[in-house]
Amino acid sequence: MTNSPISARAADGLQPLALSSAPSDRVAMVAFEGVTKHFEGANGQPGFTALGGIDFSVARGAITGIIGRSGAGKSTLIRLVNGLEVPTAGHVLVDGVDVATLEDTDLRALRRSVGMIFQHFNLLSSRTVYDNVALPLEIAGLDKAAIAARVRPLLDLVGLSDKERRYPAELSGGQKQRVGIARALATEPKLLLSDEATSALDPETTQSILELLRNINRDLGLTVLLITHEMEVVKTIASDVAVIDRGLIVEEGRTFDVFTAPRHETTRSLLSGLSGAKLPDAIARKLKPLPEPGDRVLVRLSFFGATAEQPLISKLMTGLGSDVNIIAGTIDEIAGEPYGSLVISYAATPDIVARADRFYAETGLATEVLGYGA
Ligand SMILES: Nc1ncnc2c1ncn2[C@@H]1O[C@H](COP(=O)(O)OP(=O)(O)O)[C@@H](O)[C@H]1O
Ligand SMILES: [Mg+2]
Repeated sequence: MTNSPISARAADGLQPLALSSAPSDRVAMVAFEGVTKHFEGANGQPGFTALGGIDFSVARGAITGIIGRSGAGKSTLIRLVNGLEVPTAGHVLVDGVDVATLEDTDLRALRRSVGMIFQHFNLLSSRTVYDNVALPLEIAGLDKAAIAARVRPLLDLVGLSDKERRYPAELSGGQKQRVGIARALATEPKLLLSDEATSALDPETTQSILELLRNINRDLGLTVLLITHEMEVVKTIASDVAVIDRGLIVEEGRTFDVFTAPRHETTRSLLSGLSGAKLPDAIARKLKPLPEPGDRVLVRLSFFGATAEQPLISKLMTGLGSDVNIIAGTIDEIAGEPYGSLVISYAATPDIVARADRFYAETGLATEVLGYGA
């Protein structure tokens, strides 16, 4: 961080956080411990339990994604981290400190140490780009020179140096989110929260914002916790992922592991249509669960790790004693690692199927039988 143009805390007069009783590299950046959140119903209406018991931690320095459908509890969960919501039960620890125990000065210090970006950017339309980024520094009481020394390098970092006198209405969605990111970084947070930050952007702009977040994570060592309903976002930048469904975390792990071998039904359904080669509809519709005489078996092969580096397909083709058809295939990247998927078919006779199964067992190739067809 010492070489970063925006690490000017000592000079710019921002007080270091009084929060950290004993932060340590071993303490998770964020820990949810038995967290529930119940919203009381108004005027005698029934209430709603948005979070049903969350135990989860966010590793320091990582980009962690929490993915789930609309209404799953993602925004509620992330709002607990900067004290915008208070848990009904359990504890939310940021850098080892229980958010619920903080008052006034300490809570303000926490909010400075946790930046947040939003789906609809939440910029002030009456303020210029420069003044939007300056706002948290004005609130923190910095003088004009200190603010300028901080805002200019941030605008440079997000690629908006030439737009500092513009107003939000004059910017594209991607540019607005860059302003949001610069503003979130103004107080030099150690944690950046992102609530659907790319959900209002087109795919190309999404990629450029994700690239910016990845660079910030790498260059500033900033921990990122992002929530999204878009698998593509998690796949592109998150090293770790948790899947939330109806207020509960149903699956978590390294993104690559969860995406290549999802265990929970919700994860599978969120993933459908994303990774792996998709069968053409005309073929998928005619697939049968059991073979009839003369049928072929359709198998999806997945390549990653060691199996991606060997000529397994040519070995399979020569070893099988059946012709092999290639029906669909993709090569993809998940959390920066290559992942290939190929759907093939061959005769579903007992001897050929047994030979193929032996080959899969010997080589460690991951396979899935999709069904049978003529
Ligand atoms: N302040 C609130 N009062 C009552 N219910 C709420 C409140 N905030 C959120 N909820 C409910 O909690 C559930 C989870 O909401 P939210 O965390 O916003 O989900 P997500 O961000 O995953 O779409 C939803 O059913 C929502 O209606
Ligand atoms: Mg939400």
